[in-house]
Amino acid sequence: MITDHNIALARSTDASAISAMSRDYIERGLGWDWTPTRVLRSIRDRSTNVAVMRDGGPLLGFGIMKYGDDTAHLHLLAVHRSMRRKGVGTALLLWLEQTARAAAIERVRLEARASNDLARAFYRSRGYHETERLSGYYRGAEDAVRLEKLLWTDTGTGLVPE
Ligand SMILES: CC(C)(COP(=O)(O)OP(=O)(O)OC[C@H]1O[C@@H](n2cnc3c(N)ncnc32)[C@H](O)[C@@H]1OP(=O)(O)O)[C@@H](O)C(=O)NCCC(=O)NCCS
Repeated sequence: MITDHNIALARSTDASAISAMSRDYIERGLGWDWTPTRVLRSIRDRSTNVAVMRDGGPLLGFGIMKYGDDTAHLHLLAVHRSMRRKGVGTALLLWLEQTARAAAIERVRLEARASNDLARAFYRSRGYHETERLSGYYRGAEDAVRLEKLLWTDTGTGLVPE
């Protein structure tokens, strides 16, 4: 069963596995920016959460979110190929969003490859909307779409979580 009890902050020993998933699932064909060293920097960064889901074996998935004053930026999110469409991506995203809400952050932003229809469908289904297309965002070779989700709704009498 997919439960957020299996989600925790990554350890430094997870950096290589996270980096390999980014290379294979997200950065494929673009080069490899999220090297183990960069992932390790994020794990150690006090304004970034690197969340992982595990179940005793290899990582089931991970997400990296950096928290600013008003906006949190989702850098990466990926689920092991054999574990997709079982709610792992949703559970990781909700965990990271909840942390942002607890810090009174207003919105989450992210960029996805324009060609990544699967990711775009996933984020739309999770309440994100596309705000702009960024030409040549990935090394001049591929466009990105920017997506955003507001974490709060103003009811007139106060803010409630989205
Ligand atoms: C995008 C990704 C993280 C989604 O993770 P996941 O665990 O499979 O997603 P979930 O099971 O939580 O899916 C939630 C909803 O998203 C949508 N969705 C997920 N995969 C989809 C697909 N292949 N096609 C269409 N919609 C999809 C559906 O609405 C789904 O709900 P449903 O299964 O009840 O229909 C995963 O597919 C992945 O790792 N992809 C490769 C890496 C990547 O592209 N990351 C995003 C860019 S940073």
